Amino acid sequence: MKTLIRNGHIVTATDDYHADLFIDRGIIVYIGQDLQFLVPAADEVIDASGLLVLPGGVDVHTHLDMPFGGTTSSDDFFTGTRAAAFGGTTTIIDFAIQQRGHSVEEALDTWWAKAEGKANIDYGFHMILSEVNGETLAGMGRLVDQGITSFKLFTAYPGVFMSSDGEIFQALQKAGEIGALVAMHAENGSVIDVLVQQALAQGHTEPKYHAITRPPEAEAEATHRVIALAKMAHSPVYIVHLSAQDALEEVTIARDKGQAVFAETCPQYLFLDDSRYEESDFGGAKYVMSPPLRSPDHATHLWRGLAGDDLQVVATDHCPFCMQDQKVLGINNFAKIPNGAPGIETRVSLLYDAAIRLNRLSLNRFVEIMATMPAKLFGMFPQKGTIAVGSDADLVLFDPQATTTWGVNTAHMQVDYNPFEGYNAQGKVHMVFSRGEKIIANGQYLGRAGRGKFLKRKTFAAP
Ligand code: URP
Ligand code: ZN
Ligand code: ZN
Repeated sequence: MKTLIRNGHIVTATDDYHADLFIDRGIIVYIGQDLQFLVPAADEVIDASGLLVLPGGVDVHTHLDMPFGGTTSSDDFFTGTRAAAFGGTTTIIDFAIQQRGHSVEEALDTWWAKAEGKANIDYGFHMILSEVNGETLAGMGRLVDQGITSFKLFTAYPGVFMSSDGEIFQALQKAGEIGALVAMHAENGSVIDVLVQQALAQGHTEPKYHAITRPPEAEAEATHRVIALAKMAHSPVYIVHLSAQDALEEVTIARDKGQAVFAETCPQYLFLDDSRYEESDFGGAKYVMSPPLRSPDHATHLWRGLAGDDLQVVATDHCPFCMQDQKVLGINNFAKIPNGAPGIETRVSLLYDAAIRLNRLSLNRFVEIMATMPAKLFGMFPQKGTIAVGSDADLVLFDPQATTTWGVNTAHMQVDYNPFEGYNAQGKVHMVFSRGEKIIANGQYLGRAGRGKFLKRKTFAAP
């Protein structure tokens, strides 16, 4: 299949120009002016006049079909990756989970079975280590050989995922040796546990106590600690879902000293705040995620961090649970509300709106944080994350004049609410290509379940 996209306004992390693109067998093979005179006949010619041509979004933090909090996230690899495609994301990295007493290979087999035959876009896996011991440390090396080059560990969720400092340190050392990147969930789980028990003992059961018992200081302390552990281990570290100014300061200080510390934030921390926990009729449960939403001043600092490169990535932490039969598990106890919220479909749109209408980011920086930098940090660049000769033809044709009104009825995520309900975003996804195949056009999904391929990722190289 040969496709010629004519007269597009191409934007990458570094460039901004008008040109034609020629795609052959899923790869961008020519970029230039008036390509119709220079290239073989195309099977399809698309006029992209008036449209932006962007690299497909790269979302490096999703939880599809994930057992968590006594239930399973409500999007599987079919519905979740289809929603991603509708939203202009063409690559995800999802989290496989090594369960206690089980090997990393068992985890990988389980997650491959979840994704194969279902994924609509290309995907990789991080491996969550629920245990750090001789066996799982050795397993890290075997996974890197298979293209799973990043791992997630936690300082939170005691009794489920939380690792000790010594265990995290060992995993960081191992990662440094084998060229892997450790992604850290940084919140002080032990302190949070005490605060949760104290709140419940005082009869505080409503969703807002989820946020009250997970203060910014708990995030900042853990962020400081994992940065120090990474320094002692001589390894890079990536902080996931950073939400608080206090935690950002820890990242900034370390980066200013030249340490290889990287961090992501998520749209919910940029666009929403903790007033959402006041929503009536248990509505605050929609926003029960960890870390929680913060007071509005934190977002101001996060935007500054993104603009100034103290934060390098915006990922979604897409982890949807339906209000009706899942969030309700915590109706009498906020600590039993499954943690997580949907966002795989809304990220690219919200960030474009932030760039253009809210004037928070340049267009190049918008592309960098939503596609290029995540691809670089997680070993997928230049195959993914940019528009260049030789790169996969993962492209979004984006209409900058149209608008998108987000809501549970306009999105395709398999969940009964949208945290961004009613948000009017400038711009609209017009067409999406994944490896040269047109998978979204005219608001329809044109791909097929299982067309998405597993991505064997490269080892970590500092961008
Ligand atoms: O609340 C969240 N973030 N749920 C997903 C699991 C995690 O910690 O990323
Ligand atoms: Zn986490
Ligand atoms: Zn997560």
